Amino acid sequence: MKKQGPYFFEEGFIKMRIGLAYDLRTDWEFQENDPLDVNAEFDKPKTIEEMTEALEAGGHEVKRIGNVDKLLARIPDLGVDIVFNICEGRGGRTRESQVPVILDMYNIPYVGSDGLTLGLTLDKGVAKKCFVADNIPTPKSFVAVNSDNLETADKIGFPLIVKTCHEGTSKGISAASRVEDYQALKRQVDLVTQVYQQPALIEEFIKGTEFTVAVLGNEEPVAMPVVQVSMDGNVNLGDSFYYFEMVSSDRLQYVCPAKASEDLARQMQALAVRVYRSVGCRDLGRVDFRVDDQGNPYVLEINPLPSLSHEDVFNIFPQEFGLTYADAINYVLQLAAHRCGMVERPASNPFLKTDSSKMRDAQYEMRYTRQ
Ligand SMILES: Nc1ncnc2c1ncn2[C@@H]1O[C@H](COP(=O)(O)OP(=O)(O)O)[C@@H](O)[C@H]1O
Ligand SMILES: [Mg+2]
Repeated sequence: MKKQGPYFFEEGFIKMRIGLAYDLRTDWEFQENDPLDVNAEFDKPKTIEEMTEALEAGGHEVKRIGNVDKLLARIPDLGVDIVFNICEGRGGRTRESQVPVILDMYNIPYVGSDGLTLGLTLDKGVAKKCFVADNIPTPKSFVAVNSDNLETADKIGFPLIVKTCHEGTSKGISAASRVEDYQALKRQVDLVTQVYQQPALIEEFIKGTEFTVAVLGNEEPVAMPVVQVSMDGNVNLGDSFYYFEMVSSDRLQYVCPAKASEDLARQMQALAVRVYRSVGCRDLGRVDFRVDDQGNPYVLEINPLPSLSHEDVFNIFPQEFGLTYADAINYVLQLAAHRCGMVERPASNPFLKTDSSKMRDAQYEMRYTRQ
């Protein structure tokens, strides 16, 4: 077979049959009281096409499994060597754990974190307890199951942001989620607890800038180049933040390399690896940060199931190494295959560059002086 990228390495290459487990937005049947963003975290059919293409380019065979119901119907005879799981699952804070737990029951190898890590990170309140225990800076916060006792807000101080405790993709977050007084706080907590039927996470609002850092690896996880969030062409977000209506709009752009000092970028990369280890993440993950006006980074959350769409970060950081989305996807697969004992030697990491800081500076200049 023709060598197509760094992920295809002669020595140690094995062709794998890969089962893709995913939830499609188009599979969701809207019920009467569903909020508009109810299926926000599910994938677009295009993402499944992109992943299939990438894995096939890596020399593998792809079998599409689909969601947890389809997995259950086919188990135990899946006829695959390994499952690439990006399933969001259905219902409650253990939903992302459903596929990994079933695969563990049948001893089927899979890409990504196990059910415990996916459950504990989906509940942001629980994940933040790990961060605090491990001395990882995260905005001050408290969790409310209803709007009866919100006095802790005084200890933190307004403005605050009210989020759903166990959702992603800015689900449940709107322009009204940043609150400046008790009346607005109560309104948002009622919305989260009643419409989204889960506790609300109330957090100190961090005015400033926003970044996200992918991490790849197992024994020695490696942080990828820092990617910055820009809104309406501006990286100085101040009081702006990323809410659901922006997810599919062109108001949000990613900037890589980030417009951040070398020191801040390094701090975030080191923190991203600590967060990854703190929650027992495997193979891949992505850590979201806000940085305040004094330059202090705060970890918002870790996503062990980051979006693998071409529009997202896994299509951006590879470019900093002269690599592609397919290289990233196939390298993640190799990490999982080695962790599961399917390949003897790990693939050498194509996402490691000893002179990455120099390269960053050069590109930084290039991209920002030309505007
Ligand atoms: N404490 C905070 N201060 C400022 N903005 C925040 C804060 N928490 C969240 N946000 C904004 O809301 C977005 C979504 O929050 P996040 O905690 O990453 O949840 P998710 O991405 O799972 O929906 C962030 O990308 C950021 O723009
Ligand atoms: Mg996030």
